[in-house]
Amino acid sequence: MRVVIIGSGNVASVLGRRILLAGHPIVQLVGRHPGRTALLAGQLGCPYGLGWAAITPDAEFYLVALSDSALFAFAADVTLPGKLVAHTAGAVPCNVLLSCSRHSGVLYPLQSLRKGTDPIPEIPILIDANDPGDLERIVSFAGTLSDTVRMADDPTRLKLHLAGVLVNNFTNHLYTQAAAFCEAEGIDFDLLLPLIRETAGRLSYMHPAEAQTGPAARRDQRTIDTHLELLNNYKNIRELYKLFTIQIEENGIA
Ligand SMILES: NC(=O)c1ccc[n+]([C@@H]2O[C@H](COP(=O)([O-])OP(=O)(O)OC[C@H]3O[C@@H](n4cnc5c(N)ncnc54)[C@H](OP(=O)(O)O)[C@@H]3O)[C@@H](O)[C@H]2O)c1
Repeated sequence: MRVVIIGSGNVASVLGRRILLAGHPIVQLVGRHPGRTALLAGQLGCPYGLGWAAITPDAEFYLVALSDSALFAFAADVTLPGKLVAHTAGAVPCNVLLSCSRHSGVLYPLQSLRKGTDPIPEIPILIDANDPGDLERIVSFAGTLSDTVRMADDPTRLKLHLAGVLVNNFTNHLYTQAAAFCEAEGIDFDLLLPLIRETAGRLSYMHPAEAQTGPAARRDQRTIDTHLELLNNYKNIRELYKLFTIQIEENGIA
């Protein structure tokens, strides 16, 4: 399919490379920042346009990889009659692009994507469309980019997006706190990397509740008290430690 990518950020960059690898011609990249747009267009080997008025009508599929708030402005400003148009947001409704094209939907990559990522990771894709016929076309396009393509309506995508925040963003916040603690205490954070990898790896064959170890799971109050004592000068980490310990001890998800 002849593709136009709108946006020059993380998703445009990684999905752009994936689209090229799948053999689709990218006929144009459209951004607003001259430097970033030219740079990405150079990497993708395609022409570029600046501003939405520059979007070429000479393509079949338009991938709109804009920030969530810009998506609404795009939908209000741009019409692409007859074209298949999809946005990449997990938390924005499928129908947001209906005013842009009747043939619109969602192609949401359920992965943390960053510009320089190499190699491109496994990317499950969640899709939806405003018309059943277009759903087939988006499924078939997404199937050239990923082995895991699932239909997900607005509520399902939103819930997966939220769960993604828990497993990705919040976990990374814990890594950040642990790294700050290690730096302040003169300890090598990298020594923890095998532990991080092992715990994450277990999730492919074990339920996370079963994989839980540590002093809170063992109800080892003596060690918990020693840790809390050590955290007297780290108010934020101490709060997190207490909250997580209580929840792990209760073993509840409510
Ligand atoms: N990154 C991820 O891991 C990920 C994963 C799945 C889904 N998504 C979703 O994919 C979409 C894009 O995310 P991203 O990570 O690629 O974001 P990003 O790296 O911040 O890129 C956002 C793009 O939107 C453009 N933009 C922002 N505000 C604009 C405006 N007012 N007018 C015109 N263009 C504007 C930016 O242009 P400038 O460069 O000029 O600022 C940039 O090209 C979002 O809906 C996000 O929720 C992201």
